[in-house]
Amino acid sequence: MKLGALRETADGEQRVALTPDSAVQLQKLGYDCVIESGAGAAARFEDEAYRAAGVEVVDSAEALLETADIIARVRAPSDAEVAALPSGKKLISFLSPAQSPELLDALSAKNTSAIAMEMVPRISRAQKMDALSSMANIAGYRAVIEAGNQFGRFFTGQITAAGKVPPAQVLVIGAGVAGLAAIGTAQSLGAVVKAFDVRPEVAEQIESMGAEFVFLDFEEDGGGDGGYAAPSSPEFREKQLACFRELAPEIDIVITTALIPGRDAPKLWLDDMVAAMKPGSVVVDLAAEMGGNCDLTVKGDIVESANGVKVVGYTDFPSRMATQASTLYATNIRHMMTDLTPEKDGVPVWDMEDDVIRTSTVTHDGAVTFPPPPLKVQAQAKPQPKKVEPTAEERKAAELAAEQARGKQQIMLLCIGGALMWLVGAFAPPSFMQHFIVFVLSCFVGFQVIWNVSHSLHTPLMAVTNAISGIVILGALLQVGSDSGLVTFLASISVLIATINVVGGFMVTRRMLAMFQKS
Ligand code: NAI
Repeated sequence: MKLGALRETADGEQRVALTPDSAVQLQKLGYDCVIESGAGAAARFEDEAYRAAGVEVVDSAEALLETADIIARVRAPSDAEVAALPSGKKLISFLSPAQSPELLDALSAKNTSAIAMEMVPRISRAQKMDALSSMANIAGYRAVIEAGNQFGRFFTGQITAAGKVPPAQVLVIGAGVAGLAAIGTAQSLGAVVKAFDVRPEVAEQIESMGAEFVFLDFEEDGGGDGGYAAPSSPEFREKQLACFRELAPEIDIVITTALIPGRDAPKLWLDDMVAAMKPGSVVVDLAAEMGGNCDLTVKGDIVESANGVKVVGYTDFPSRMATQASTLYATNIRHMMTDLTPEKDGVPVWDMEDDVIRTSTVTHDGAVTFPPPPLKVQAQAKPQPKKVEPTAEERKAAELAAEQARGKQQIMLLCIGGALMWLVGAFAPPSFMQHFIVFVLSCFVGFQVIWNVSHSLHTPLMAVTNAISGIVILGALLQVGSDSGLVTFLASISVLIATINVVGGFMVTRRMLAMFQKS
């Protein structure tokens, strides 16, 4: 089958759903690829690059719709584009299914099998297809860069000849994918970052990135289903707002990302908090598309408050990094096609029993299949049988049995060893036997000495090798006074090398310990 990508028609959209790299991978799955001329230009993928990757380039959207069986796009098609879509095609795109029931009806009337990329469930198996996360990651990064662009100061603190510059204070509200990306970016630019989320489980992630988790002394778990938050109670919200109100005067940059999918964004950064911020401060509201977390947000625009605080409400951050965003999005689509093509034969199989395919499919076989049924619960861990503690008598009996087994094993080993000795002694000359017995006994003694050495150096291996070196030195010292010049020479070399090993072991240990000592 043929998979084609159209030129995006939405205002300002610069991304593209197929890149030359993803096309190469799709061809390995058995698909022929086709693209509308100029579709990748805004993301810096020229027609020539597609041709070089074996992609057919066609001149118009009509030509593409005619030839391609599967259409990949970034933004949902407009009414006119749905009208132009031939019957029975497959469509993979962001579709906002909850907000556009008419679009789903129109697509099902065209017998289109449509996958909405925002519906990919956030389960580990589907991470590589999770386009929402890859776009949110870019948005979080870009939000900080945009804030830096609007902010008139450094992020990092500096002490210069001209004076001391304090670091910027950044507050991130909502530590999901975008929030964590924003925390990482602001942190790496040198800002002092605080972050808040209603899900207490993210506190550890926030702190592991070096930011401070804004702790609210309130008994409520904001965690909901599927890794998303649950709506907060009014009491919790009040407490949260009071906390933000207290922080507002000291914060320079606020990045808000708080959202529960399918709901309007909660208002969390209110008029009075903006008014309490210093002039020149910046609020970047990533939830602008769904109404915004800030009272002042204007969707798609930047506004300035009366006290000189800029509020950024852009909704196209991923598109502002079109090359990166297209690369990630096209890879997400490629992974979705891999899931849809188990035989790698260029024929998609809509397995509606598959959790990921079922949840993301919004129209199929002429019917609207949105909303999907709740995700099948992951195989629950079997309840572990309670461990019964053995009684003192049972413990004694077990110890006795283990002791007896050990004894039997030792007798067996002795018998085998004795038999072997007898066998060797029956054939070997007496002088060999004398040396052989000394050799066997020294192996035994050496083994016992080395294995029972206490591990006072920094690794057991180092302790054991030092014990071996100790034995080598002992043996060599006994031999160093020999009449034979060769034996004396070899014994001296052994003493030297083994001593280097022992002294080196101690030096390495000292260095390792110094690394953990506070100066
Ligand atoms: P996510 O669901 O991973 O993260 C949202 C976080 O907000 C969650 O951790 C959730 O616990 C938290 N949250 C929900 N209600 C809260 C509340 N009342 N107080 C504090 N925290 C709360 O979502 P993701 O993928 O990180 O996206 C975040 C936002 O970024 C979304 O609004 C999304 O639409 C937006 N976005 C914006 C783009 C743009 O260009 N402006 C591009 C991509 C995403």
